[in-house]
Amino acid sequence: MYVRKTGLARGRPQARRFCTIMSFLMFAEHPTHMTQLTLIVAMDAQRGIGIDNKLPWHLSEDLAHFKRLTSGHPIIMGRKTFDSIGRALPNRRNIAISRNPEWRHDGVETAGSLDAAIALVGAAPAFIIGGTQIFAASMDLATRMVVTEIAHSFDCDTYFPALPAGWHETARETHHSDANDYDYAFVTYEKAAP
Ligand SMILES: NC(=O)c1ccc[n+]([C@@H]2O[C@H](COP(=O)([O-])OP(=O)(O)OC[C@H]3O[C@@H](n4cnc5c(N)ncnc54)[C@H](OP(=O)(O)O)[C@@H]3O)[C@@H](O)[C@H]2O)c1
Repeated sequence: MYVRKTGLARGRPQARRFCTIMSFLMFAEHPTHMTQLTLIVAMDAQRGIGIDNKLPWHLSEDLAHFKRLTSGHPIIMGRKTFDSIGRALPNRRNIAISRNPEWRHDGVETAGSLDAAIALVGAAPAFIIGGTQIFAASMDLATRMVVTEIAHSFDCDTYFPALPAGWHETARETHHSDANDYDYAFVTYEKAAP
């Protein structure tokens, strides 16, 4: 862990020891604060994200966008989202969270909690890819969200949580889907590190 050497840390050995212990305690209490977490989600005009454990739409441009951003990076997901995808996604470390210690799937690492999943990736930037339960649990730990906002309403039974205070939009790219005849936008939201 990188600790900036303050005047105190550069000083007497006793003071240096104090700084080291404090840094360790901060790290132990917040084991996730070194990981750069990005939530990535596609939602409709009512914040809907899923129905019957599937995506409610087929938007190939969004699938390509998801692949482009997440390839080469760890992806963390709830077990139901993994079931909805049905296979490990290539060129990425796949981590699924489940309370069932017996749960296994080829090409997927299993974690018993969100913290355990984040501990697996260490300091590597990682993507939280859903679903609602895992988005809700990780929102306070993330510093960035990449949201595909679809300007259309679908039948949904699963929703993306409302953004807590502190998040603000930093980029927006608007597109039109000719295949579906609706607009959608790739939007980035950011907040200061927790
Ligand atoms: N539009 C999008 O961008 C997008 C993205 C992802 C998913 N989705 C949709 O979202 C829906 C799935 O979302 P969901 O909220 O129902 O499920 P989910 O968050 O994907 O997975 C829930 C499961 O994760 C495990 N889990 C949750 N909290 C846990 C904890 N604290 N400790 C350990 N394990 C925990 C449990 O697995 P066990 O039951 O095995 O213990 C739980 O049943 C689907 O419709 C999917 O298509 C949409």
